Parts: sequence; C-alpha cells; structure tokens
Amino acid sequence: MIAPSILSADFARLAEEAAAVPGADWLHVDVMDGHFVPNLTLGLPVVEALGRSTPIPLDCHLMIDDPDRWAPGYAEIGSRNVTVHAEAAHDPRGCARDIRAAGALAGLSIKPGTPLEDWVEVLRDFDTLLVMSVEPGFGGQSFMPEVLEKVRTARRLVDTGHLTVLVEIDGGISASTVEQAAEAGVDCFVAGSAVYGADDPNKAVEALRAQAAA
Ligand code: DX5
Ligand code: ZN
Repeated sequence: MIAPSILSADFARLAEEAAAVPGADWLHVDVMDGHFVPNLTLGLPVVEALGRSTPIPLDCHLMIDDPDRWAPGYAEIGSRNVTVHAEAAHDPRGCARDIRAAGALAGLSIKPGTPLEDWVEVLRDFDTLLVMSVEPGFGGQSFMPEVLEKVRTARRLVDTGHLTVLVEIDGGISASTVEQAAEAGVDCFVAGSAVYGADDPNKAVEALRAQAAA
C-alpha cells in the first residue's frame, strides 16, 4: 500500500492535491500541534473537509499531545485509520478502544528512539503500527535505516501470529529507500516529498508501488 502524505502538498489546494493521486491506497494526514512536535499543521475541521472532498480513505497521523482527547473525533469524521503516538498517549489502549468504537482502525506510532519491545503487549489492541523513520515534525528529512530492525521484528511477530498489525513506515521513503523498507517487511509506505515533489504525483505513487513489490 502507498499512502501519499498531504504534508508535502499545497495546503491552499488540498482537494485538488488529493485528486492528483487517484492511485493512492490511503491519504496520509499529518496533524501536528506545535507541542508534541515543533511544527503546526491542520486540525479536525480541515481534515473533515478534506475527507469530504476525496474518496481516498484518510490515514490520520496525530503528532499531538493528549491524543486521548482528540483521536475519537478523527475516527468519527470517517477516517480509515487513526494513529496516536505511544510517547504522547496517556492511555494507549483506551485510545484504541475509542478509535475502534468510532469506526476506524487504530494505529500506534513509535518515534525512531522508541523501542518496539516496550509496546508489543499494547500493540495487541491495535490494528496498525506506524514506525517513524525520521523524527516526526517535518517532511523532506533523510530516511533512518536503523529503524528497519524494528520493522523486521514487527514483521516476524506478525508472521508468527503473535501480532496482527499492518506495518506502516513514515519518513524519507523514496525511490532510493522503498526497496530496503519493503525487504524488511513494510505493508504500507507513507511518502510525502517523493510523491508531491514529483512532476506527476500519481506516477510517483505507481512507481513506488512497483518498486515495493519488486
Ligand atoms: C513527518 C510526517 C511524515 C512526512 C513524511 O513527521 O509524519 O508523514 O510527511 O514526509 P517525507 O516522505 O517527505 O519524509
Ligand atoms: Zn506522518
């Protein structure tokens, strides 16, 4: 699966930018609050409007403090997947329960320095695992290959039936990194600058998918 990140799109033309990637499986929406991460992007009213403007399922990545309070709202507007950060949630299991009750898949994200081992038990209550391959906050950063070890571990846990999560990676995914991520066992690839920085964003989506499957 390929999930273009709208963070690298033109925020003045969100609906058109979503329409530019009809081949996307999910549209990745980076919600940043200027507290959990230094950057500030968009919030619920704008995400709700974006969701109404596109048939592509939204994949909301909440880089915010107190996601316990806000995550259910992102599920209620019809998002397919809502991801909270392990480092930010007061009660991650409660977040998962509330997100699922509102009809979305529940995702848990871990920053590059957060060990997967600490979260394996909690992940049993989640549907997706988002492994950050850059420090969250900004698009266009360099891929951190050292996080692939966590992807391999997650893949092993899923393949042996110890976990049932979709493994997603986010940060620095491009033509030069997608293959190593695929080889490590990623199911869903988030790509911002590699898609929206391309002359033809949809072609970039298809190219990444072909490379990931190779
Ligand atoms: C970073 C965001 C990413 C970002 C990825 O904090 O979570 O989703 O948009 O952008 P690229 O693909 O350019 O690294
Ligand atoms: Zn993201």
